[in-house]
Amino acid sequence: MFNDIAEFGFPTSTLFGSGALKRVAQFLSERKSVMPLIVTDAGLISTAAFKQALDGFTETGMVFHIFSHISPNPMDTEIEAAAAYFEEKQCDSIIGLGGGSAMDAAKALAVLVVNQGKIANFDASNKPKKMIQGPLPVLICIPTTSGTGSEVGRCAVISSAKDSRKFMVCHPLMMPDLAVLDPDLTVGLPGFLTAATGMDAFSHCLESLVSPVFHPMCDAIALHGIELVVKYLETACNHPKNIEARGYMQLASMMGAVAFQKDLGATHSIAHALSAVCGMHHGLANAICMPPVMKYNLETSQKKYAKMATIFGVDTGEMTDIEASEKAVGCVADLVKRVGLPEKLSRAGVDESQLDALAETAFLDPCHQTNPLPCTKADLLAIIKQAY
Ligand SMILES: [Fe+2]
Repeated sequence: MFNDIAEFGFPTSTLFGSGALKRVAQFLSERKSVMPLIVTDAGLISTAAFKQALDGFTETGMVFHIFSHISPNPMDTEIEAAAAYFEEKQCDSIIGLGGGSAMDAAKALAVLVVNQGKIANFDASNKPKKMIQGPLPVLICIPTTSGTGSEVGRCAVISSAKDSRKFMVCHPLMMPDLAVLDPDLTVGLPGFLTAATGMDAFSHCLESLVSPVFHPMCDAIALHGIELVVKYLETACNHPKNIEARGYMQLASMMGAVAFQKDLGATHSIAHALSAVCGMHHGLANAICMPPVMKYNLETSQKKYAKMATIFGVDTGEMTDIEASEKAVGCVADLVKRVGLPEKLSRAGVDESQLDALAETAFLDPCHQTNPLPCTKADLLAIIKQAY
């Protein structure tokens, strides 16, 4: 027992609550920053959340520059253009404001302004051509969606403008100095995005909970994240201005990302394939694929799934773990339906002719390597067919 040495920690400082973004100016001044660069995506500029954030900053006397040329899948050339702009405007700190793309771009930018050159040189998948050196500038992340949890992560997913290939840049130095969770910023998030990003947060909790890596603190956080999604996602979808539901969904999203430092599983491999092959929203892809992946993992993960069933309110007293796990699968499928998402790939724009390509692509994705039950390409195809 306990012969393997495990290493874990939870270092990100967080400000949480309505109006939290008004404390950003104070944080920056304590860190001696006088000119932050706000990194955001073009789609956010016209939203009420963006105006609200800027008004909050201005009210507290903050001055800043804005770089808003970030795509939904941030590209290496955009990070390089942001680095040139950071230099030109003599900025000294970075604020990632938006969804996962804006926050990932901000984290990659922090690497590039210190380490220079091309962001692809820091691709973590091969041996990086260059090692990331610090210290990085002060980095703050402020999410306007509740799903990716990038505000507490140490990685950024970047796309190559040349060939659309995605690569990761990862380093503990990329963990933001401050995560600001202000639920007021998420009240305008449309129903589909609330549901899909919320199910992404749920999938992070679920997949990390059953991944075989030893991390008891992550397991406890994942279970609580699941509980929060079960309790609040439907309310956030049906009553978008409900601050309590919005706030707890932000916390669930953060918990999911803290938990998945344990790693993810087969659901994310298939979801990544669905985004690459069919252009499907990541959260929607996870929502549809979770129940069939749970069925595949049923025996291996029965104790943890049985515990999940109780979180959904199932009285499991007289049930075996397998019976309770089957109930948990049904509860997850029911949650997908209740938040208004399609339950099958066939109803989400996927064509039957794409299923083989999906299995091929999913098999190449590394996430399934930490699925509780190993997956062959044929196993992934069988799961995809069930989800179809
Ligand atoms: Fe995800």
